[in-house]
Amino acid sequence: MKTDVIAIIGAGKGGTAILETLLKMPSVFIKHVCDVNPSAPGITLARQHGIQCHTQMTEICQDKEVDSIFEVTGRKEIFAQILANKQENTRVIGSEDARIIFHLLDLQQEVSDRLEDNNLILERRVLERTMELEKANTELEKKIIEYEKLNEKLLLINNEKTKYLMHATHQLKAPFAAIQSYADLILDGYAGKIPRMTLDIIKKIKERCLLLTDAIQDMLELANLRSLVRENIKMELYPLDSIITSVANHMAELAASRKVLLSVPATGDIMVKCNKNQILIMLSNLLENAIYYSPSGATATIAIKEDPNSSVRISIIDYGIGIDEKYQSRIFDEYFRANQAVEVNERGTGLGLAIVKEIAQVHETNIEVESVPGKGSVFSFHLKTAQKHKDD
Ligand SMILES: Nc1ncnc2c1ncn2[C@@H]1O[C@H](COP(=O)(O)OP(=O)(O)OP(=O)(O)O)[C@@H](O)[C@H]1O
Ligand SMILES: [Mg+2]
Repeated sequence: MKTDVIAIIGAGKGGTAILETLLKMPSVFIKHVCDVNPSAPGITLARQHGIQCHTQMTEICQDKEVDSIFEVTGRKEIFAQILANKQENTRVIGSEDARIIFHLLDLQQEVSDRLEDNNLILERRVLERTMELEKANTELEKKIIEYEKLNEKLLLINNEKTKYLMHATHQLKAPFAAIQSYADLILDGYAGKIPRMTLDIIKKIKERCLLLTDAIQDMLELANLRSLVRENIKMELYPLDSIITSVANHMAELAASRKVLLSVPATGDIMVKCNKNQILIMLSNLLENAIYYSPSGATATIAIKEDPNSSVRISIIDYGIGIDEKYQSRIFDEYFRANQAVEVNERGTGLGLAIVKEIAQVHETNIEVESVPGKGSVFSFHLKTAQKHKDD
């Protein structure tokens, strides 16, 4: 940047103010200060800064180096005299113009001072917020560690609870099996002749025993699934065909008794990666629901669709009572049964779909439900087909 060579004529109050301002500017060189009074305040200040001082302005007007002369005497004849004697390239700035310029400079200084103040305030605030955030973050990290520990404890307690439940339920199985066999002995006539009414009551006892045994079986199944360490569950490749046939055979009697037709697909050579026992339980529960909640004469279908991303979608379709939308999110909860389902099928514990959900999670799949009340339901999930076809 070019340095401006400046001279100031008039070193009273105004001249001193201009001198002070110009002294702060980096690109300005003040070469001369002139005043008729050699002890004017501007002259004293100029001397302190090693600036040439004069009582006559002749030398200043002759100096070719001077770019601008500030006339701050406020006397018109001096302004005219400077104009008449100055060098061609020298600018003359009169007191009025100088005042405006310095007013603007003052304003600029004020604005930049304020900006600097605001900047400082802003920096302080950012620092404060950063410190607050860091503190909050540390607190949060502490809380996370506490929660993780708490969670571990809860998991342990839950595991203990599940084990206890399994044990207690298991203990119940034996007495119920005994009651059932005693009832069978009586019903088969081994206890001698029994009046007809007593026999009917014993039949009811046996039916209730069967219901309870089913419920205990389901509770054990669920507790067992929840207590398993998931990573240890064996996943192997099985032909889907054999799994579906096995489920269909297992359900054939129930379907016949409820007069529901079973429609089973041809699966080809699809191999699925799964825990076979668990998938058999899962499909049996879904197909059992499709049969129970369908009217007689209806069809319950297992459908399959191969996906391009190495999986197969398996759907269990029925044309039965369907599920009200408000219940659809609750049907996987333990012991939840919709009113209409209870009317259609008294036997039922409400544990079937809770078991299905656990098995689905083990197989990293979601159970999707589409259902329209009065029209029917479709339950679908995916299984991985690690190898598409045996021959591949
Ligand atoms: N295919 C279906 N059609 C209509 N409602 C269904 C169907 N499947 C499930 N539901 C509803 O979801 C509820 C829960 O089903 P879930 O299989 O868990 O229990 P459940 O069939 O009542 O008894 P169980 O434990 O003996 O299977 C059922 O009671 C019923 O209200
Ligand atoms: Mg069920």
